[in-house]
Amino acid sequence: MPGTMGNTVESAQDEDAGAVDQAVARDRRVRLLTWYDHHRRALPWRALPGGYPDPYHVWLSEIMLQQTTVATVKSYFEAFVSRWPTVEGLAAAELDSVLQAWAGLGYYARARNLHRCAGTVVERHDGVFPNTVEELRQLPGVGDYTAAAVAAIAFGRPATVVDGNIERVVARLFNVATPLPRAKPELKRLAGAFFPDSPGERPGDVAQALMDLGATICTPRKPRCILCPLSAECAARLAGTEAGLPAKKAKPPKPVRRGIVFWAVNGKGDVFLRRRAEKGLLGGMMEVPSSEWLAEADFPALDAAAKQAPLPAGWRLLPGMVRHTFTHFHLELKVAVARIPYAPVANGRWVALEALGDEALPTVMRKVVRHALAHGTRIAE
Ligand code: ADE
Repeated sequence: MPGTMGNTVESAQDEDAGAVDQAVARDRRVRLLTWYDHHRRALPWRALPGGYPDPYHVWLSEIMLQQTTVATVKSYFEAFVSRWPTVEGLAAAELDSVLQAWAGLGYYARARNLHRCAGTVVERHDGVFPNTVEELRQLPGVGDYTAAAVAAIAFGRPATVVDGNIERVVARLFNVATPLPRAKPELKRLAGAFFPDSPGERPGDVAQALMDLGATICTPRKPRCILCPLSAECAARLAGTEAGLPAKKAKPPKPVRRGIVFWAVNGKGDVFLRRRAEKGLLGGMMEVPSSEWLAEADFPALDAAAKQAPLPAGWRLLPGMVRHTFTHFHLELKVAVARIPYAPVANGRWVALEALGDEALPTVMRKVVRHALAHGTRIAE
């Protein structure tokens, strides 16, 4: 029957096309991995070529690298593994010392989940990281991306790993015009064709090769296509569209919030700090107490804001302000200072100036400390 004949011919053609696609994908992977073997970045959590990665290192680095650059993460990673060389050590640490070691990395819920996750690995898995995407996904703080990355990099599991660098490489390679974030499912599907089905084809190195390509060659601005192992087949390069990809939906401008922080110094020269609520922004971190951060056109009046100060005092404003940017808003803080002759401590503690470096102070609060120390002593007398 013609219909049957047609189907048979079509499915034979489909099979041929599938085999060609697979051969193209394999050829691309080989060129990518050859490039990686010569140009990979030496990063402290990576195994040496031919060596076996430590799953604890891979997991720790992947949690740190969520939302934070490689350059920033390196020194934090090294400090963590020298202080807590094993997942058991990290699980046994006080949460507070983990938060303190994390201070400055941002997105502090990650540090709390990191500590919880270490505890789970020790209690439920005898200190051995599970090695499948599904089991990894059950761990606290491990989402789809991290489960795929750890499974592929630490255990050689076939998994599609897609981070921001890989999205950019794929959007350019296939000239995807759809803007982010709408393009995410399409980019994940296209990236899937890159990743091998078998552990022997180095899925973890494919992931890290794409990351390195995105970080060093296929950069957001001025990509260095001449050095790229995939440039001959890059659809965006052929179309001349690479500089504008991936397209991004315009973001609304960030609002500016403002508040006044209260730098209280007691007779010994100690400063009053308190702990933020567990939930929410900078959860569980230490802070210089502050009035609410409100998106008003100007700073609150000092006498009104002083009602939210931790202690009654003759507050005086320092010149200048501290600026910090969070994911969803810019923050401007003025610093009010006062000397407090007595030491009532509710919901906080007095900390010697020399000991401020040991506190779990997030970056915005370190800026406040710097500002107060630069301008404060003279005025607070
Ligand atoms: N970003 C996220 N994971 C990474 C890794 N393993 N290597 C380099 N950059 C990364």
